[in-house]
Amino acid sequence: MTTLTPDARTEIWRQLLLEHAEDHAFVRAQFGIAAEPDYADRVLASHNTAPWAVGSIGVLDAMVLRDMVHGIRPGRVIEIGTAAGTSALLLARAMRECGCAGDGEPVVHTFDLHPWCYFDRSRAVGSAIDEAEPETAALIRRRVGVTAIDAGEEFAGHNIEMAFVDADHRHPAPVVDVLALLPAMAPGGWIVLHDTNLPAEADRYEKLKGTRVDWKQHGAKWLFDSWRHEKLVLPRHKNIGAIRVPADGTLTAEEFRACVDNPAMPWEMEPSPAAMRLLDL
Ligand SMILES: C[S@@+](CC[C@H](N)C(=O)[O-])C[C@H]1O[C@@H](n2cnc3c(N)ncnc32)[C@H](O)[C@@H]1O
Repeated sequence: MTTLTPDARTEIWRQLLLEHAEDHAFVRAQFGIAAEPDYADRVLASHNTAPWAVGSIGVLDAMVLRDMVHGIRPGRVIEIGTAAGTSALLLARAMRECGCAGDGEPVVHTFDLHPWCYFDRSRAVGSAIDEAEPETAALIRRRVGVTAIDAGEEFAGHNIEMAFVDADHRHPAPVVDVLALLPAMAPGGWIVLHDTNLPAEADRYEKLKGTRVDWKQHGAKWLFDSWRHEKLVLPRHKNIGAIRVPADGTLTAEEFRACVDNPAMPWEMEPSPAAMRLLDL
């Protein structure tokens, strides 16, 4: 197997970003902000991942998250699913860039079920944050051994304008995460979902590598596809998307029935008793 040099990898990422100029302009237009002529360089600067950190968002996801932060200018972001800390760092850097990071207090609150990185148990969750520039790291608060249910309880009533869900992708886990976060979310707040096209990504990977993968999971895709309220569907990159909490803030488990209680969308995991209560089952 050939290993890419960091420069070669950066060049590939730059090309990918340039090929997705339409997505960059689309997201920014949704929020009434102008596209940036030099966005590819800016995204690359914010997405400077630790070399050992795998299993993180890709560079196109980084572009979208950064644009959404710039558009929403949230006072705080909740993230579910920390892993190495790559996306938490991206979010914090984007908040610094657009001047909504406040006075140095944590503004990115990232929650993970596990204390270690899922791809390497010798590394603590969020280790990449410890290796990053201190002024960004200081903006991130990590909690481990927790889920979206804890996040929703901690931030209930805080009118969070943006959350990023990138945790358990098995159906119906992402529905549980969204339901759990609702008490914390502002009416009209945005919840960004990662891996909204994971089954197709898995198929592509299997074909390319000639191997089988165990991550062909439908949770984020089925939730995103069946969302009946406002959502952000990108023109080209399909593996990230955002759903918007209705302006009146009301959403019940009933809204999710079409995807949770549907024989065409079989469950891929067994939710905890607390999660079952959220699902109203
Ligand atoms: C794909 S990784 C997150 C990657 C990270 N967002 C990034 O881009 O750098 C998924 C993470 O979710 C965590 N996780 C799995 N189930 C979870 C749950 N129910 N609640 C919170 N975290 C969970 C895993 O331990 C793992 O670290």
